[in-house]
Amino acid sequence: MALMPIITAPDPRLKAVSKPVETVDDEIRSLMDDMLETMYAAPGIGLAAVQVGVAKRIIVMDLAKEDEPRSPLFLVNPEITWVSDHDASYEEGCLSLPEHYAEVVRPAAVKVSYQDYDGEQQELEAEGLWATCVQHEIDHLDGILFVDHLTALKRNIILRKLLKAKKQKQKEVA
Ligand code: NI
Repeated sequence: MALMPIITAPDPRLKAVSKPVETVDDEIRSLMDDMLETMYAAPGIGLAAVQVGVAKRIIVMDLAKEDEPRSPLFLVNPEITWVSDHDASYEEGCLSLPEHYAEVVRPAAVKVSYQDYDGEQQELEAEGLWATCVQHEIDHLDGILFVDHLTALKRNIILRKLLKAKKQKQKEVA
């Protein structure tokens, strides 16, 4: 397994629409293992393949608390099949927008169909933080970041700060 560099916004690669996975084979499983290790190391609770530069419809998640055993979830070609009428607001963050957080309103519960680590078709129903996280990650597969749910003003403030931080970092490396 290997850690993969996480792409941070603003970056056109994060706006790409990811392609469906045809077959969940050893290559895909190896990618999912690397993504999970990268997510744990960050640390984070969810990661989409596009965030490590692979525009394929794959996400990994683990919402276990620090004192709980790890419970990774691998979702290939996830699709939302149902959303609740009522919404919920959570403060969201993202490994691709480090150190920035904002309240985002989304459906409070969703059903998602997907293929698992072995390529088996599965369905899950999520609510609470699970529902927020899975919708946030599926957004990534369509090139959508959580800041895209904010007003243009709030989004631009965050993206400008990230760009500035990025330029600063490049200067330090140069
Ligand atoms: Ni994210």
